[in-house]
Amino acid sequence: MNNRNILITGGAGFIGSHVVRRFVYNYPNDNIINGDALTYAGNLENLRDIDGAPNYFFERLDITNSEAVRVIFKKYKVSDVIHLAAESHVDRSIEGPMEFVMSNVVGTVNLLNAAKEFWTAGEHVFHHVSTDEVYGSLGDEGLFTEQTSYDPRSPYSASKASSDHFVRAYFHTYGLPIKISNCSNNYGSHHFPEKLIPLMIHNILNNKPLPIYGKGDNIRDWLWVEDHASAIDTIFTKGRLGEAYNVGGLNEWTNIELVRFLCRLMDEKLGRQVGESEKLITYVKDRAGHDKRYAIDASKLENEMGWKPSITFEEGLSKTVDWYLDNSEWVNQVTSGSYKEYYKKMYGNRT
Ligand code: NAD
Ligand code: DAU
Repeated sequence: MNNRNILITGGAGFIGSHVVRRFVYNYPNDNIINGDALTYAGNLENLRDIDGAPNYFFERLDITNSEAVRVIFKKYKVSDVIHLAAESHVDRSIEGPMEFVMSNVVGTVNLLNAAKEFWTAGEHVFHHVSTDEVYGSLGDEGLFTEQTSYDPRSPYSASKASSDHFVRAYFHTYGLPIKISNCSNNYGSHHFPEKLIPLMIHNILNNKPLPIYGKGDNIRDWLWVEDHASAIDTIFTKGRLGEAYNVGGLNEWTNIELVRFLCRLMDEKLGRQVGESEKLITYVKDRAGHDKRYAIDASKLENEMGWKPSITFEEGLSKTVDWYLDNSEWVNQVTSGSYKEYYKKMYGNRT
């Protein structure tokens, strides 16, 4: 389909920048509008390579401002939305839930209202990008399916669950053409070093302690961010309206085994002795309400649309570490200033 005006919210963030780049290249006949408030997590350096592409537009947009959202819908005649803008870090949500309510819940409803107001005719898609955390926490067995009941347990996941409910409510009540995807943990380039993998890469490089929450036995399912972007493209293009699709990597790791693996990989790349980086591992106070295990059944997406992760974790992690080694300027930029205060606040008294 040609000449759509696709608003991608949160396009300057980690996942959003990969989605924007993919759409700018894959859909040269469509206009791609990146609407992002540029919070601490948004960074236009993530998209420097597509600056000047004829079908790419950036707008500084705070989705908590309903009028500002309407202005963008009008200005670009927005035909479709891929909604990624959100406060995304669980630890920050524990410190201050209200920003999560504002961006994740109110911001989502503002976008839904604008779509409802402006999409009175024609074909449209509102694709809401969400998380597997809405399903809560698993024990040793089982996988989250699209039928799993919602059971969010952190302020972050409660805000995402609420936004999912609003998106579904707008489908059932007003017939808004929505799709939802719920994905597991992403990793890859341009990942802000507050999250586990980039934080550990940064600390290994700088010989700083590697803070493992609790016993390190919590389990996450990891997916390469480019594979998440390809899943979003697939669902946006071929998914059924009103449906939710789980996205995951079938790639479960305990945090401690993942960090040990990363240490070995980085010892090799940095020419360190085997075991050197592992000595930095430090067990610290657990996250409050720490979900034990996430694991995704993505068979609906695979069976309906043939989507699968394209690379192994070993390949993806190696590429990711290489990116951080090659992009020290980016890392220096995002870890100066307020990051230092954040780090001190979160980890200063944690041991
Ligand atoms: P991120 O924190 O890296 O980026 C979020 C982006 O949203 C930033 O560019 C930020 O500036 C922007 N933003 C925040 N509040 C905004 C507001 N009020 N108005 C406009 N822009 C705003 O997040 P991410 O990890 O890239 O996650 C993107 C989306 O994917 C989120 O909705 C998140 O819930 C979801 N998700 C993330 C993961 C993951 O592993 N990171 C997994 C599944 C789903
Ligand atoms: O599952 C999808 C979710 O994954 C997304 O919706 C969230 O936006 C994203 O942030 C991520 O949430 P997690 O809480 O799982 O990711 P995080 O990287 O913060 O933590 C991963 C695991 O590592 C978790 O069990 C907590 C642990 N951890 C994290 C940090 C930052 C540590 O042990 N030490 C740390 O310093």
